[in-house]
Amino acid sequence: MNKICVLTSGGDSPGMNAAIRAVVRSAEYYNMQVMGVERGYQGLMENKFRPLKSIDVANIIHLGGTILRSARSDEFRTADGREKAVQSLKRHKIQGLVVIGGDGSFNGAKSLSEMGIATVGIPGTIDNDLPYTEYTLGFDTACNTIIDAINKVRDTMESHERVMILEVMGRHCGDLALHAGVAGGAQAILVPEVPISTKKLVDIIIKGRDFGRRSFLMVVAEGVSGGAEGVKQEIKELGDFSVRTIILGHIQRGGSPSTVDRILATRFGYHAVSLLKNGQTNRIVGIKRNKIFDIDIVEGLSQKKIFDTELYEIGSL
Ligand code: F6P
Repeated sequence: MNKICVLTSGGDSPGMNAAIRAVVRSAEYYNMQVMGVERGYQGLMENKFRPLKSIDVANIIHLGGTILRSARSDEFRTADGREKAVQSLKRHKIQGLVVIGGDGSFNGAKSLSEMGIATVGIPGTIDNDLPYTEYTLGFDTACNTIIDAINKVRDTMESHERVMILEVMGRHCGDLALHAGVAGGAQAILVPEVPISTKKLVDIIIKGRDFGRRSFLMVVAEGVSGGAEGVKQEIKELGDFSVRTIILGHIQRGGSPSTVDRILATRFGYHAVSLLKNGQTNRIVGIKRNKIFDIDIVEGLSQKKIFDTELYEIGSL
């Protein structure tokens, strides 16, 4: 294999640029050419390629977002769309593809691999919702962003003796809420994986007040029914509390990647290119116990995501 391409797809995450950089540098090390594809699978169908050399990825390791931009493409979900993508790759004599994204993006990679293109995926999503890997790119940075917001909001919630309900991203996965909630010292963490009654939340406030606590932080994952607003209404129905909500939103998706994410991106990028170099296809890379590994796409995605109940329990003490 001497020519590959790289794209970023789905929701962006801090560390994607560091991964693009690692792919390009690793490919050069193996004497392979790299093309960057703009706007994910959409750009693949629309023939939006540009050559990427080391110099093109200089000074991007610290940047959030993705220099290749990202998109969610409906057309690529159709057989015609995928055929267009394969024809573009063939026109450019590209034999391998690195996809940086989440589960939807990996399903696209699987389809292309069935059509004869060697594909490898790097997990890039702040949600940390992929079942086969302990961490995805961007999760650590997003947690740090949430912690930064918590540190600030603590000042005002304490001054006003309020209950603050902070909603974080994560779609159906509570990892962002769990990790940021524990690290941020939240009084309650609400995630889709563990149901919690409103009565229990109100008890936390009442008991806390008994021993002198004046303000309360509750971190809610967006996947919890009703989100932060829903939780606020339920709490207010049970007592006369001063409650405010914050939906942190896309701020969590931006910003300079943390050291952890930059190193993860560098290791993932190198591993992905090595797989293509060795003629492998339909693989996704991950990390477990600080070891980088790879697994078949279908096998990796069919695993069950394990929620860290131990951390949840320790964080709730
Ligand atoms: O999957 C990443 C994610 O940030 C989710 O946490 C969130 O639900 C979703 O993307 C938001 O998507 P969009 O950027 O399309 O609004």
